[in-house]
Amino acid sequence: MSKDLIAPHGGELIDRLATPAEKEDFLAKADSLPRVQLDERATSDLVMIAIGGFSPLSGFMGQEDYVSVVKKMRLANGLPWSVPVTLSVTKEVADPLAVDSLIRLDNPDGKFIGVLQLRKKYSYDKKHEATNVYGTEEDKHPGVKVIYDQGEINLAGKIWLLEREDHPQFSKYQIDPAASRAMFQERNWETVVGFQTRNPIHRAHEYIIKCALEIVDGLFLHPLVGATKSDDIPADVRMRCYEIMMENYFPQERVILAINPSAMRYAGPREAIFHALIRKNYGCTHFIVGRDHAGVGDYYGTYDAQEIFGEFAPEELGITPLKFEHAFYCTRTEQMATAKTSPATKDERIHLSGTKVRAMLREGKTPPPQFSRPKVAEELARAMKAS
Ligand code: ADX
Repeated sequence: MSKDLIAPHGGELIDRLATPAEKEDFLAKADSLPRVQLDERATSDLVMIAIGGFSPLSGFMGQEDYVSVVKKMRLANGLPWSVPVTLSVTKEVADPLAVDSLIRLDNPDGKFIGVLQLRKKYSYDKKHEATNVYGTEEDKHPGVKVIYDQGEINLAGKIWLLEREDHPQFSKYQIDPAASRAMFQERNWETVVGFQTRNPIHRAHEYIIKCALEIVDGLFLHPLVGATKSDDIPADVRMRCYEIMMENYFPQERVILAINPSAMRYAGPREAIFHALIRKNYGCTHFIVGRDHAGVGDYYGTYDAQEIFGEFAPEELGITPLKFEHAFYCTRTEQMATAKTSPATKDERIHLSGTKVRAMLREGKTPPPQFSRPKVAEELARAMKAS
């Protein structure tokens, strides 16, 4: 008999997909409802809320939750939650909207995709959010820039998603929390490690994933395909790299590749908690946190994203972080390693930053096999040439 899965965060997997009757009703009202156009991030947040990826959130955050999350990394009821999930609009957009009414939510192309039951409109302090959540006020930080560029009023309330549409490129890998949970159960996986990634898979990723795979039943390889900063490698290229890994280098029966539709925030430590809670909702019991998880530039210390887990009692989070040191290729032992497993001196460590790899690719060079599996390197070089 299959064992119980880990409970979603807050105890219940949220489902805010409109029922056929609700959808019909909303469509009938479509032209009479006031409209708000969502940007790419808010669109993916809407989807994540609806499919339960952000459980226990059932809508865009109200003021009490927002204030508490920004200040204390907890929802107003005390449950850990580290990143605000808000719908921010300009004052001009917010002013005519009546509290307690239904608002039509359109995607960036103007398509009607969801409904908000507006419960509250509130203003917020952008700098305060930036400093607390991102640890900096600088608009050079891509997450902070999003806050500064967005509207000054948050709209709060429950949402409905009209329809769960197939992802235009990766529908095969669109496995939502209810489905991933069913798959884990079917496979009798009691322990599942989630892996968040937004970069092309390299050998340090592979090493920490495989270290984790030695001690759990299965891997949920869960690349983020929502909005990323413009110089990150596009999701379709990254997906091809993960497919190459699945076909050639991973035991397929122990790995599920699925897309994470949410947007990157680059909030480092706070985002590591957020990423872990999302994977808990997908049914993972463990979550990999390596070096500078979800970091950008020099804003966070190498292991800040691991240390932040110490601010919560393990049972409050439920999901267990698996923390890995900086991994590199060790020329002395001729294998991937960390300082925990190799006596390598600095000169004996091959490590390439994402920035260096992108620069190499731009110069038409292919990353070395110590950094990237050759087939993955070829794919990256090919994609870079074509772009
Ligand atoms: S991100 O979401 O953390 O920005 P990225 O693809 O860069 O995505 O990394 C995915 C995971 O691998 C993160 O947990 C990160 O900390 C970890 N990681 C990346 N490179 C290394 C490395 N060289 N050594 C150890 N962990 C790493």
